Amino acid sequence: SDRLRHADFMSQLPSGAGGIPRLNAAILGKPLSSEEDDLVLPSADFSAQALISSPQQYQEMYKRSIEDPAGFWSEIASSEFYWKEKWDPEVYSENLDVRKGPIKIEWFKGATTNICYNALDRTVEAGNGDKVAIYWEGNDLGQDGKLTYSELLSKVCQLSNYLKHVGVKKGDAVVIYLPMLMELPIAMLACARIGAVHSVVFAGFSAESLAQRIVDCKPKVVITCNAVRRGSKVIHLKDIVDNALVESEKNGVSVGLCLTFENQSAMKRDATKWKDGRDIWWQDVVPEYPTECEVEWVNSEDPLFLLYTSGSTGKPKGVMHTTGGYMVYTATTFKYAFDYKPSDVYWCSADCGWITGHSYVTYGPLLNGASVVVFEGAPNYPDSGRCWDIVDKFNVTIFYTAPTLIRSLMRDGNEYVTRYSRKSLRVLGSVGEPINPSAWRWFYNVIGDSRCPISDTWWQTETGGFMITPIPGAWPLKPGSATFPFFGVQPVIVDEKGNELEGECSGSLCIKKSWPGAFRTLYGDHERYETTYFKPFAGYYFSGDGCRRDKDGYHWLTGRVDDVINVSGHRIGTAEVESALVSHPQCAEAAVVGVEHEVKGQGIYAFVTLVEGVPYSEELRKSLILTVRSQIGAFAAPDKIHWAPGLPKTRSGKIMRRILRKIAARQLDELGDISTLAEPSVVEQLISLSDS
Ligand code: WT7
Repeated sequence: SDRLRHADFMSQLPSGAGGIPRLNAAILGKPLSSEEDDLVLPSADFSAQALISSPQQYQEMYKRSIEDPAGFWSEIASSEFYWKEKWDPEVYSENLDVRKGPIKIEWFKGATTNICYNALDRTVEAGNGDKVAIYWEGNDLGQDGKLTYSELLSKVCQLSNYLKHVGVKKGDAVVIYLPMLMELPIAMLACARIGAVHSVVFAGFSAESLAQRIVDCKPKVVITCNAVRRGSKVIHLKDIVDNALVESEKNGVSVGLCLTFENQSAMKRDATKWKDGRDIWWQDVVPEYPTECEVEWVNSEDPLFLLYTSGSTGKPKGVMHTTGGYMVYTATTFKYAFDYKPSDVYWCSADCGWITGHSYVTYGPLLNGASVVVFEGAPNYPDSGRCWDIVDKFNVTIFYTAPTLIRSLMRDGNEYVTRYSRKSLRVLGSVGEPINPSAWRWFYNVIGDSRCPISDTWWQTETGGFMITPIPGAWPLKPGSATFPFFGVQPVIVDEKGNELEGECSGSLCIKKSWPGAFRTLYGDHERYETTYFKPFAGYYFSGDGCRRDKDGYHWLTGRVDDVINVSGHRIGTAEVESALVSHPQCAEAAVVGVEHEVKGQGIYAFVTLVEGVPYSEELRKSLILTVRSQIGAFAAPDKIHWAPGLPKTRSGKIMRRILRKIAARQLDELGDISTLAEPSVVEQLISLSDS
């Protein structure tokens, strides 16, 4: 019957309609006819109530968005957001071609607005101040809280006033190092309200990583809390911040104020290490400030935040997003990709320390006036049913998570799921890495009771919002495919020479033309921005991902093609792990590759050469892993250390990772040509040490 309904879908399409070549195959001309495809159709009920309910409706909007981007986006921007001053007639300008001069992207030029005002005040002023903005669920069962839009606005204003009082001005950076307390989105919004630039650092990063980011963006204030409970562990965040501030000071950056939230359920204030004159308790000062704070109107192109992410060199990149375009883009993608309705309760399990938490915990949903669940704890604490307990408790209708979590819960068994009703769920989402069809199926059949479409959203820190994503209700899904581009996005697949490929193909995924949510630069390093993203294929934004387009035009992401590994949806540069390893006094050299991992997607596999004369030992293995944990964070700890007397190098000294990847994956019959190596015998040696 799915097949019949599918034919139905396709028959709605105008025959032979053209104009958007890349979508012709699937959406327009030829129907998805092949019997071997695994297709999942939205139910008739779902489609009937969906914002976009047919391929045709999508196609009309998409076509408009490509043919007239200025008209398409300015209509949305005008009707759904408040602008203090409108943009000059020109809605956007761009140069994505390095050959024509510096890369420059601008949207809603000359306009002034404020994203915090649009996210909070607008909802309150529309009479919806009593609607719940945030449902907070703590680490432990029974620990919870909530804030309405009015309450959230008051709290944000108090912090904004405090920050202004201590001298934070428009354009100043503020580093936020907090777990998933309500204070995290509050702090982000408070910065945005006064035009300060927030830089959230995921609270799983080590002191050294935090220091590196502080040194780069030189914040006026660091906002943190004393400690957090995660599962049964207590993590002393303030100690980490203390160490980071000492380290920053050594590098010439001193921060005068550390605003510390007392997270009482984790640690009392008396037990917290304190530096008088620098450290201030949030609770002692912020509640004293007025609950109203005038908005700082900022230019559309003024920076909203920096978020550091990994690249193929050791130094993290400060991805910079600006205000107007990011606002319009996150809100619009949220609305359509999740088919958002005002009655929805939305939960995204990501941490605000990553881009997903910026765009789809804080900004996108709140700009839509949504009720958002913020969860502090771990998804398997006290047991693997916790997520569904939360879904039932708050009647979550949209649940957005990562494949790694789905795979780990899948392994724990269905009993943890079926114990709960989950009947409130209506849309599911996946992000962070390609989702394997079997995990997709489990998510769909078991979690969603075969009722909820899955939006597998492909995007990146750099893109600000969804780029390739299903629109639930609009077309059949294929498990494992992110399907089609969002409005205004023109994905192209190129070969090594940068030629655009047509029809069924695979290659590197690039984007032609800018979209409002695109990042504008790498903080302090526009040259690296151009070199990394715009030089590999002149004329395009290069994503770093590989992609296949099937005969129906569906996109299948195949993973990174650069030296970045994706561990549980976290992006880790091989060079970062290598530089942490070689900082160990007994490590002479290290080469890191990604290897398939059942739960994490990819695991970190490190080849390590020790200093002459140092013997391998279990103790040393542990100490190497500890070095990485303390320099980057626990999430970057290598899964495997492979002792390497030597590494395969070309005669010019370049490490041949291709060979290391094959050894790590035990694909020994696929090593390829090793004759160009300076010392081909190291390969044999490495293989013989594989199991040690
Ligand atoms: C990289 C971006 C975007 C928020 C989370 C990660 C991979 C992300 C998908 C997806 C296949 C995906 C890509 C991308 N990725 N979503 N749905 N299907 N791959 O953000 O840390 O900037 O990482 O994550 O490889 O380049 P990020």
